[in-house]
Amino acid sequence: MAAPAVYGNWKMNLDHVEAIHLIQQLGVLLRRAPLEHVEVGVAPPFVDLRSVGSVIEADRLGLVLCAQHVNEHESGAHTGEVSLAMLERLGVRAVIVGHSERRRLYGMDDALVARTLARVAGAGLRAVVCVGEDLAVREAGRERAYVADQLRAALAGLPEAARANVTVAYEPLWAIGTGVVAEPAQVAAQNGSIRATLAEFGLEAPVLYGGSVSAENATELAREGALDGFLVGGASLRAEAFHAVCRALDDWYASTR
Ligand code: PGA
Repeated sequence: MAAPAVYGNWKMNLDHVEAIHLIQQLGVLLRRAPLEHVEVGVAPPFVDLRSVGSVIEADRLGLVLCAQHVNEHESGAHTGEVSLAMLERLGVRAVIVGHSERRRLYGMDDALVARTLARVAGAGLRAVVCVGEDLAVREAGRERAYVADQLRAALAGLPEAARANVTVAYEPLWAIGTGVVAEPAQVAAQNGSIRATLAEFGLEAPVLYGGSVSAENATELAREGALDGFLVGGASLRAEAFHAVCRALDDWYASTR
């Protein structure tokens, strides 16, 4: 299996002062109880990246600085957008691509997800591409076919240089921010299907799960979810909770070796 990873998606929360506070708290916990196997990343809002990156570097926290989104273009007349070069300059090493909130609320369609994925992963950054079905699709029993199609669309035309840098996050929409976490068996089934779709492209990318992951459910999900890590929203805004999720995955991974 791939080395496990946990990424915290802070979404549109915490200004840069609050962000510094959170990353420092996380730093204290990581120093007190270091992780052995799990790669941990945080994805703050754009305006916090500089501050959070400075703390990570100064305190040698070993965390991966991530962005929540990036524009597909190199530069130019794209008011309100942020380019990959700008993020790289700030030390960003991973970018979430096609989060369901970007797709649903900001019109990010499959083609744009594919172009953004190619740009991020093609530039050598880790691209965490999100897929997941909504409740109607799941109730219709079409969740595997739906997610497979989403993933095929995202991977279409992926350049050779990008292939090693793709991570998939399975995030069922009905589990995001709802407190309703997917059953480990549901996660395992979907992740198996995702791996089969990846294999169509000759890829063996890590597959994460996201959607109401917490300190309480992380161990069971890690054990039974056939996953390589987590994308964590709400719980990543509290240092103890996020650290506990990372620990749960680290402990589980250690126990499998
Ligand atoms: P949640 O969010 O953990 O708050 O459900 C997950 C995500 O949207 O990445």
